[in-house]
Amino acid sequence: MLDLHTHVLPGLDDGAVDLAAGVALCRRLHEQGVTTVVATPHWHSPRFDVDGAGITTAWDTLRTTVAGELPNLTLVLGAEHHCSGLEDPASFVAGCRPLGDSRVVLVELPDDHLPANAWATLFALLRAGRRPVLAHPERCRGLRGQRDQMTAFVEAGGLLQLTLGHLLGVHGWRMRWHSRGLLRRYPKSCLIASDSHDLGVRRPQWDRLPASWRPFVPVDLRAVSSWGSANYLGKI
Ligand SMILES: [Fe+2]
Repeated sequence: MLDLHTHVLPGLDDGAVDLAAGVALCRRLHEQGVTTVVATPHWHSPRFDVDGAGITTAWDTLRTTVAGELPNLTLVLGAEHHCSGLEDPASFVAGCRPLGDSRVVLVELPDDHLPANAWATLFALLRAGRRPVLAHPERCRGLRGQRDQMTAFVEAGGLLQLTLGHLLGVHGWRMRWHSRGLLRRYPKSCLIASDSHDLGVRRPQWDRLPASWRPFVPVDLRAVSSWGSANYLGKI
């Protein structure tokens, strides 16, 4: 089982505070059945000062320790790329950090509005041969009322990453309602990930995954690249 959205890299953002916390989070994910963890630190988020050198250092440290302590767990480096609207789509595409060696790019939108160039950026990724995955679209209030655009995005091959804690109702009824609505509306384009940050409020909840949602969890990154690909851009 793959968890494509986690904040296990230590000391970078609002995820693991230090190496011990990062390893503990990896251990908990592994105990809950995850075999591949994608580390997705915030990238270009206005909330955090994360640079490439910091990611490399945190990645090298965590990867080395996890390899010794959890030899059966695969760690992959990715990023959660914030789309603030300040970058033009071409620059966003050129500077994006895919998940591992795949063409999958995890994109986060602001919670409170939709940047004017958000759809242009997402479609630019598709045209460039990338596979954009919208991180927790249920959180983005600017996406509500954008049903035509959302449908066009998923028909072109875009994917929606729903957060397990939201689906389960851990973070309130609104998140539960919006995430389950997306799952019902776009079942072929939804994937579930934990977006886990710690062992507290934003802890992994894979031990509570209902069997009926198991098909929405990819086994590995290769599965994400071909996820629901019948309508993929260029093949229509
Ligand atoms: Fe995240």
